[in-house]
Amino acid sequence: MTTSETAIRTAVRDTSRMPSHVAIIMDGNGRWARARGLPRTEGHRRGVQTLRDIVRHAGHRGVRYLTLYSFSSENWSRPIEEVQTLMLLLKIFVRRDLAELVSSNVKVRVIGERADLPADILGLLLEAEARTAGNDGLTLVVAFNYGARNEIARAMRAIAADISAGRINADAVTEATIGARLDTADIPDPDLIIRTSGEQRLSNFLLWQAAYAEFYFSPVMWPDFSAAEFDVALEAFGARDRRYGGIAVGAEA
Ligand code: FPP
Repeated sequence: MTTSETAIRTAVRDTSRMPSHVAIIMDGNGRWARARGLPRTEGHRRGVQTLRDIVRHAGHRGVRYLTLYSFSSENWSRPIEEVQTLMLLLKIFVRRDLAELVSSNVKVRVIGERADLPADILGLLLEAEARTAGNDGLTLVVAFNYGARNEIARAMRAIAADISAGRINADAVTEATIGARLDTADIPDPDLIIRTSGEQRLSNFLLWQAAYAEFYFSPVMWPDFSAAEFDVALEAFGARDRRYGGIAVGAEA
């Protein structure tokens, strides 16, 4: 069966109407803060509280994978104090919340470029992965220092190295060969991508994996995003007709 035939059969079989994998672009922290006369960093602090609430809620709703765009490879260009705050918030999050993630059966996976992360940050991310490795509940995918083009370029370098070393044949490179070398290897593609704050773009997030994702754009700024807003996104997803390049079920005639 070809890839698209498999996708169409999956669509026909899909009666659950619940996304297995939800990915979120948590946008609007800065505007939320500015609207209240607060520093942008205060928006990020409030954003971490929303993040906690949504991780718990997604788990209760039975979502299997939740990917959060936490720091993009482009975010380094922000003012130094803001970058430092984002790093600090990650440290506080791991230190304060890791015990709860372990006990609530959440498995942490980190995607993104690890090579140029500060050693203390990398250490904490690796610790979060290691201490939750045996869990099998919600997989929380933390996209940190993540950029999809960078991820794809690293996968291409790995394939080029395998070809030059004779481990694989260039003619044998398939979509699966590429998928297996992305940071998201073993993680199913996102079914639903949510972006908050009214912006409608992907911003270098999961470009390969988003091929058949449904998009949901919420006008709400991330610090104000709530479990109820998340449920509205799930409802919108449930009403979508996913065709994967095929035709609607029942429209064959
Ligand atoms: C976008 O808002 C948000 C970010 C760049 C970072 C999101 C990070 C967190 C919510 C917390 C840190 C992460 C962890 C894992 C604890 P923006 O600053 O672009 O908002 P704006 O578009 O209104 O300026």
